[in-house]
Amino acid sequence: MSIIRYNFSNPINTALLLYILYSVQRILYPPLSKPKTIPHEFKSGYTWMPKTHPPTVLFRTYTPRTLVKFDGQDGGRILLAINGTVFDVTAGKNFYGPDGMYGNFAGHDASRGMAKQSFELDMLTPIDDPIDKLTDLRADEIENMKGWYDHFANKYIICGKLVENEEHQTEAQSEVQIPT
Ligand code: HEM
Ligand SMILES: *[C@@H]1O[C@H](CO)[C@@H](O)[C@H](O)[C@H]1NC(C)=O
Repeated sequence: MSIIRYNFSNPINTALLLYILYSVQRILYPPLSKPKTIPHEFKSGYTWMPKTHPPTVLFRTYTPRTLVKFDGQDGGRILLAINGTVFDVTAGKNFYGPDGMYGNFAGHDASRGMAKQSFELDMLTPIDDPIDKLTDLRADEIENMKGWYDHFANKYIICGKLVENEEHQTEAQSEVQIPT
């Protein structure tokens, strides 16, 4: 009784079927050409595909020595690490760029400075030394660092992890090391 039969004699059904076929065709074979005026609203709808994929960020490992190249001095990407996690803070150029208030952190492990709420240079570990183990920090300082970590995780892109320079690496770390 409730079986729906397709009835071609009904012109509305035929029109709908044609429309569905057309829509499916548009999904399967979207037009590749760029429209003359790039739409910036979804009002009229558009189904064109961009010719190239936007640039991607690769999650990788950094050492203190490879991280320091991303200090933004050359106008390029700015990275910093907190507790072993590397954040891409390029979007915060005003804070971490060469003239930024927190520019010292750029390209460095910022854990200790974040924990102790200080951007002084003596918060930074020399890039040839083993990574700061932070074992002397008080519980409230660790907690403060965690607060900053969460702030950064919400605001910036996590793009890697910080491992020891080669001569300080344990076997487990050298396994994940991606050559630069
Ligand atoms: C003179 C004292 C300070 C003033 C007036 C100050 C002011 C500010 C202001 C206005 C912001 C921007 C907040 C926003 O728009 O999101 C900020 C963010 C920040 N401040 Fe300070 N600050 C001071 C000291 C410090 C110290 C000692 C540290 C050391 C860790 C620090 C670390 C940061 C960080 C990490 C951010 C976040 C930036 C970001 O979101 O990327 N500040 N500060
Ligand atoms: C720092 O990283 C270690 C090791 O990944 C983790 O066990 C610890 O909970 C982290 N500390 C904070 C305050 O996030």
